Amino acid sequence: MNIFIKNKQSKNLIDSETNVTTNNYKELINAINALKKELNAIILAHYYQEPDIQDVADFLGDSLGLARAAANTDADVIVFAGVHFMAETAKILNPNKTVLLPDLNAGCSLADSCPPDIFSQFKNTYSDHLVISYINCSASIKAMSDIICTSANAVNIINQIPKTQPILFAPDQNLGRYVMSQTGRNLLLWPGSCIVHETFSEKKIFDLKSNFPEAEIIAHPECEPTILKHADYIGSTTSLLKYVEKSNKTNFIVVTETGIIHQMKKSCPEKNFIALPTVTGCACNECPHMRLNTLEKLYLAMKNRSPEITLSMPILTAAKKPIERMLEMSS
Ligand code: 13P
Ligand code: SF4
Repeated sequence: MNIFIKNKQSKNLIDSETNVTTNNYKELINAINALKKELNAIILAHYYQEPDIQDVADFLGDSLGLARAAANTDADVIVFAGVHFMAETAKILNPNKTVLLPDLNAGCSLADSCPPDIFSQFKNTYSDHLVISYINCSASIKAMSDIICTSANAVNIINQIPKTQPILFAPDQNLGRYVMSQTGRNLLLWPGSCIVHETFSEKKIFDLKSNFPEAEIIAHPECEPTILKHADYIGSTTSLLKYVEKSNKTNFIVVTETGIIHQMKKSCPEKNFIALPTVTGCACNECPHMRLNTLEKLYLAMKNRSPEITLSMPILTAAKKPIERMLEMSS
């Protein structure tokens, strides 16, 4: 299969297997919408997807919103424009539905930082601990967890656990530290982290603040404490978006993956959003995993009904319980 893409505005997509030629952006969108009807499909997308994908999605959200949307859909096919662990969550909640991911290699460095065999040994060493895992982990880790949480509900969920109960929190140590600061709890942390949120530079915060002294700093809790200590507001992608919508400020320094800025600009065109640069000034504040998905791959996934997420029955069953517990605890 060959796919040729001219540029973002005028796409020239040739699918050599079927000779389908889509040579402009509008045609590609029409083809996706036609397939959506034919398959009775829903497109769920995360804010870190490229703008073209965000614009074609039926539902756009953070990990919690996406899990809820997956749990509530009556579509036959879920096209997940996000990363592997998000599509797996949709499959766990819908074992009888087809869940497609445009690029099966769209993984997550944070999920990869927690290999199931090593985690299993770690968990066994602390068998009296309740295991609360951030949703950014593999289905195998979810299957070994008691409760799942996201950046939107982690503080609320931990606050519901009796203070005498020791907690093992995996895999994001930065989110874990943030939760500790908000709850006053001591958590046993797995030492994982996200490559994107670790690249932000404290020095660039000082530089930007001297140019935009009025700007508010808004950050995702996956950032390191040295960054979070400067933030005026910390939250999940959806809550960052809601925050800027409500705020009466004009300038915002955005400390998370830059994809969210597309929605911020759409919903607040009169405001100014400045992406915080990384230490080296590279484009590392774009998630290389999320950005593997493209509109063309999304179209092909729907046309071919592949790549599809599949999981074994024991994993599906074991991983469902802690996700359902999360949904109950954050309803
Ligand atoms: P949210 O749940 O806040 O959207 O975060 C997902 C994620 O992968 C952050 O890196
Ligand atoms: Fe994973 Fe980080 Fe990408 Fe989020 S931004 S999907 S945590 S690698």
